[in-house]
Amino acid sequence: MFDLAKAADYQEQHRIDKRKKPLFHVTPPVGWMNDPNGFSVYQGTVHLFYQYYPYNDRWGTMHWGHCISEDFIKWQELPPALAPDMEYDKDGCFSGSAIETPEGHVLIYTGVIEETLQDGTKTIVQQQCLAVGDGVCYHKAEQNPIIAAEQLPQGFSREDFRDPKVWQENGTYYLVAGNKNEQQQGQVVLFESKDLRTWNYLSVLADNGGIYGNMWECPDFFSLGGKDILLVSPQDMRADGVEFHNGNQTAALIGTYDNQTHQLNEEQVVSLDYGTDFYAAQTLETDDGRRIMIAWMQSWDMDIKPTDQKWNGMMTIPRQLEYREGVLCQSPVRELEQYRTEEVVYKGKIISGECRLPGVQGRELDLTIELEPGDYQWFRISFAHNESYSTSFCYDRAAQTLTFDRTYCGMIRDAVCERSMKIKRPQPVLKLRLILDRFSAELFVNDGAQAFSATFYTPLHAEDLVFACDQSVKVNLVKYKIALEEGNANENI
Ligand code: FRU
Repeated sequence: MFDLAKAADYQEQHRIDKRKKPLFHVTPPVGWMNDPNGFSVYQGTVHLFYQYYPYNDRWGTMHWGHCISEDFIKWQELPPALAPDMEYDKDGCFSGSAIETPEGHVLIYTGVIEETLQDGTKTIVQQQCLAVGDGVCYHKAEQNPIIAAEQLPQGFSREDFRDPKVWQENGTYYLVAGNKNEQQQGQVVLFESKDLRTWNYLSVLADNGGIYGNMWECPDFFSLGGKDILLVSPQDMRADGVEFHNGNQTAALIGTYDNQTHQLNEEQVVSLDYGTDFYAAQTLETDDGRRIMIAWMQSWDMDIKPTDQKWNGMMTIPRQLEYREGVLCQSPVRELEQYRTEEVVYKGKIISGECRLPGVQGRELDLTIELEPGDYQWFRISFAHNESYSTSFCYDRAAQTLTFDRTYCGMIRDAVCERSMKIKRPQPVLKLRLILDRFSAELFVNDGAQAFSATFYTPLHAEDLVFACDQSVKVNLVKYKIALEEGNANENI
């Protein structure tokens, strides 16, 4: 049996040296991490929980890890918040969300039970459970589950009913969860409640129609810029051009919510991130009204870390979402700018052939480069580079694609190394913002109109950046090193 004290103790005893991990991206103290959970503001502090298995660098019976931040960049580790220690969650405290209420910080998560029937077959039941706490310690409700699988309409799956996301509107609480219908297709179900304990089923907010994968995991639903937006993370996607790739990814369904039918009339479905490592995105709203998203910067089929590395999984940088001129844009939270140091600027620099730019190197940086119009075929930026290693993004001007390549990052797994994204709204000047944090690259194209996230576990001494162009291109570049003050920076994360 698992218990919270044991998990906290294990974390304390086996914590991994933070110098071996990303500087400002959240990672587990030790062991395995997947989805962000309970991303919320409670008493003015940002809380992030996550799917956590401290005892191994592989997925195991899920706990909730916990950390907090005042600015989304500097994180402080806390003891784990939930362990699978009750009858109703003995096989895992799966993903969920959190909300600030008068009774405290309420967590709503999926309790998983696996049962072996008399004939030996296994069944799984997933139900929604509640815990309440003060920001550090959480107590599970006396009466769990708060939404039993039986509350679903006939024919809806009880095995795949998970990842509740809760919010409040005009005095009523609402909750969406991932589910499957009778045809085994993904759907998102909507519930309402007055007190967070008694929930009424309202509707299927949106369904898959069989197009986007099977099960829809980790839904999130909010209004932004006059639209209603549902994020879902479908499993088992089939590639669709370069918009959707095979496997797991996160889609945004953009449309209008009908409050009579409680359905989302979708107008547009887009990929949230075109990278190799992005899944299970979750958002919060800050006190100043910003919609901030964070996601697991990994994917189920994409475990490429070195075998001797005892932590597995990291989060993206928190990103502000904005709906601008029909496009769901995302950019790193503005708080990152406080941590910029060592500015290096190049204006009107001609890059022809291959070159390094003095002052532009490192593995923790925030770099923006603008490519002026010109007569070239391709432009490449390589990083985490030395004589043995290299990872890159290459811009093909005619095809209007950006291709990521981590073939030479040092990985020894037969996993996806190359992936391309189509630039959907080409601009005369291509603007790329690249955030590097030791083992990850997040690329924001044309002010966040598209994003690409990827990990690589190249040894840290490979820290060159190399720029290359088949002909010549004029660029403007600004580079900052990201530095957190010594001492209190990402204490133990
Ligand atoms: C998504 C997911 C969730 C589930 C959790 C289990 O990555 O599969 O649906 O709650 O991970 O760890």
